[in-house]
Amino acid sequence: MSDFHSLKIAAVDALTPNAVALTFEIPDGLKDTFTFTAGQYITLKHMVNGEEVRRAYSISSAPSSGKITVGIKKVPNGTFSVYANESLKSGDEIEVMHPEGRFVFEQNTAVKNIVAFAAGSGITPIMSIAQTVLEGHPDNTFVLVFGNQSPQETMYLKAIQELQDKYTNRFFVKYVYSRSQEENSLFGRIETSTVNFIVKNKFKETTFDAFYLCGPEAMINTVSDTLKNNGVAEDKILFELFTSSDTEDTVAENLDGKTNIEVTVDDESFSFTMDKKALVLDAVLKEKIDAPYSCQGGVCSSCIARITEGKAEMVKNQILTDGEVAEGLILTCQAHPLTPTLKVDYDDV
Ligand SMILES: Cc1cc2nc3c(=O)[nH]c(=O)nc-3n(C[C@H](O)[C@H](O)[C@H](O)COP(=O)(O)OP(=O)(O)OC[C@H]3O[C@@H](n4cnc5c(N)ncnc54)[C@H](O)[C@@H]3O)c2cc1C
Ligand code: FES
Repeated sequence: MSDFHSLKIAAVDALTPNAVALTFEIPDGLKDTFTFTAGQYITLKHMVNGEEVRRAYSISSAPSSGKITVGIKKVPNGTFSVYANESLKSGDEIEVMHPEGRFVFEQNTAVKNIVAFAAGSGITPIMSIAQTVLEGHPDNTFVLVFGNQSPQETMYLKAIQELQDKYTNRFFVKYVYSRSQEENSLFGRIETSTVNFIVKNKFKETTFDAFYLCGPEAMINTVSDTLKNNGVAEDKILFELFTSSDTEDTVAENLDGKTNIEVTVDDESFSFTMDKKALVLDAVLKEKIDAPYSCQGGVCSSCIARITEGKAEMVKNQILTDGEVAEGLILTCQAHPLTPTLKVDYDDV
């Protein structure tokens, strides 16, 4: 289920002094496995300093390119992002899981007006979505609001310029810089006033079909709240979080005792006993069961399973809708068993 494939890095390109793009070579036999929708991410698995790490990276290339490229920004003291920026080179091999994720754009026959608010490395899925929107229909439009510290630290600046040159009348970009005053750009961070300027002033005549948000959680919350205050329906607002905020596990505090759990992965079932205070995914991995996971922080969606018997409660959930939770879906990295028996199925999602 967590099927990783060893892929060779075809190219490592510097995007900024602190970010690189990795492009993977996809052998013919794996082309179907690595088919993706704009906005999806891949999980990389690699040994760094003697430890296996898994990290999710959004695909920045468009599906139409036939390539899989990810852009990785160095996080201070980060394990994999620093390693990727400083040590990876073309020809190296990395274990890569098939693309997944729900932060996607798919073109149908209708003309689409799309707006995206991105900050920092949050531009990666937006690059793929922007290109796909612009290629999808000759009347589609795309507005990008992109926050960074400075132009030097802006990932994909050149690629964005190329898209602007190609789609002059349909692709609009507003840069927001927090540490650099630049002509035709806003100064500061993406905040309520930025969102209002875009939707109520600059593009007040446009009815947007969807809003894509990707960046720090505080930015996503501000943009999303402002949009909702402006009457935008919740189902038109899509977001992707890259990091999870620390949440106190108040569910575990009230739990005691054990649960007999049955886990189905890849048509195989495993039974064991776990503490209710433990998280389902942690217990599953301790049993060396090959369940899918990536972020282990409740933000990526890799670890979704269906509860077929019993009950579990999540510490936090920013991914599944109320309807999906009601029909039994659960993020196993966030779930504590509540009942004496629990059956979870990773295949039926
Ligand atoms: C669905 C998804 C898509 C993602 N796509 C991308 C992408 O396209 N490009 C990209 O660069 N990253 C992306 N990320 C983030 C990426 O998976 C890693 O979390 C990030 O590269 C840091 O990993 P690390 O091993 O270097 O840091 P770690 O060793 O895991 O963390 C070191 C410290 O940095 C903090 N930290 C971790 N990530 C961040 C962050 N993004 N910003 C600030 N602090 C952080 C941690 O809390 C910790 O304190 C994505 C994450 C998800 C869930
Ligand atoms: S592993 Fe990412 S949401 Fe659970």
